[in-house]
Amino acid sequence: MEYRELGRTGLKVSRLCLGTMTFGEQNSEADGHAQMDYAVERGINIFDAAEIYPVPPKAETQGRTEAIIGSWLAAPGRRDKVMIATKVAGRGKMTWLRRDAAKTRHSAAQINEAVEASLKRLKTDYIDLYQLHWPDRPMRIFEGHDYLHLEGDTHPIDEILGVLAKLVASGKVRFVGLSNETPWGVMSFLKQSEQQGLPRPVSIQNAYNLVNRSFETGLSEIFYREQVSLLAYSPLGQGYLSGKYEGGALPKGSRKMLFNRLGRYEQGNGPRAISAYIELARKHGLDPAQMAIAFAVSRPFVTSTIIGATSMEQLKTDIDAAALELSDNVLEDIEQIHLDYPNPCP
Ligand SMILES: NC(=O)c1ccc[n+]([C@@H]2O[C@H](COP(=O)([O-])OP(=O)(O)OC[C@H]3O[C@@H](n4cnc5c(N)ncnc54)[C@H](OP(=O)(O)O)[C@@H]3O)[C@@H](O)[C@H]2O)c1
Repeated sequence: MEYRELGRTGLKVSRLCLGTMTFGEQNSEADGHAQMDYAVERGINIFDAAEIYPVPPKAETQGRTEAIIGSWLAAPGRRDKVMIATKVAGRGKMTWLRRDAAKTRHSAAQINEAVEASLKRLKTDYIDLYQLHWPDRPMRIFEGHDYLHLEGDTHPIDEILGVLAKLVASGKVRFVGLSNETPWGVMSFLKQSEQQGLPRPVSIQNAYNLVNRSFETGLSEIFYREQVSLLAYSPLGQGYLSGKYEGGALPKGSRKMLFNRLGRYEQGNGPRAISAYIELARKHGLDPAQMAIAFAVSRPFVTSTIIGATSMEQLKTDIDAAALELSDNVLEDIEQIHLDYPNPCP
């Protein structure tokens, strides 16, 4: 396993991060513990969670993922081996998430409530990377190609960073990160943090995969000029890039079969692009899932690629992909498909 610096922190994170959002829904506590043991054995030193996990988010299951990580962390000698990244929900309508609020927002009260609950479930005194899961601004997230301007109130960024500053000062949070952010959002956080001496976001966690390379349009420049690390999620396009759904297949127990909310991979040029990448992998004798993960890992602006698995077999395949070096021929063919079908599944 190779390691890269997280932002400007001096901390080295593994090129793969273990995603945990299936723990507590598709995966049991025992599965989750086995995945974490194996990931650490293979050199992974960062796990990614969120207060709302497992997915799909529901009142009945919320918090199970962090609790499964917590029961693993509680055994002696484990806490120092891994960095724990988790997230506080952004602006939204999860009426069941907060004690006294019908909507989730990044207010001081809600962030403080969320941190305390995450620490308790994780059975730890500190969170290594505390991420704002999505912006507090009125925004279209997880769908659509282009920025759509929506009016509405928002908590000022310096106010949000002020709350996080207190959490850093108290030792409950080591570093702060962003997620599902735009270039304007990242630069605004950086500006406020620098002008006001508030915590500087060290990372951005956005989707990045063969069928969604929109990070390269504007955000990758921020990585190079400002050293804000990309933690790339959904490297397999939620499973589609493994080829498991080709030809209308619907494997038993798969995310699509269970939850059927992956429409973004089935519209426009999405299916054509996905098929082209799978064919390309096969032409070069590669496992399509491994090619997709190796592609994300190979990008210089990706600090760590967040993988997710529902079986040990998948996890092994996915971790092995980190060592796979894609040839120039494969990379050229990938660029050609990208030119034909740019970012069909944002
Ligand atoms: N910040 C955010 O908003 C955000 C959003 C999404 C994810 N994330 C983070 O990123 C992590 C990974 O995201 P993701 O799960 O969407 O990643 P992904 O790599 O795109 O999809 C992972 C899923 O694909 C299937 N799979 C994995 N390896 C496979 C293989 N070798 N062959 C066939 N199928 C395979 C599994 O699902 P099935 O077995 O069910 O098919 C697995 O759960 C999450 O756990 C979470 O920590 C963050």
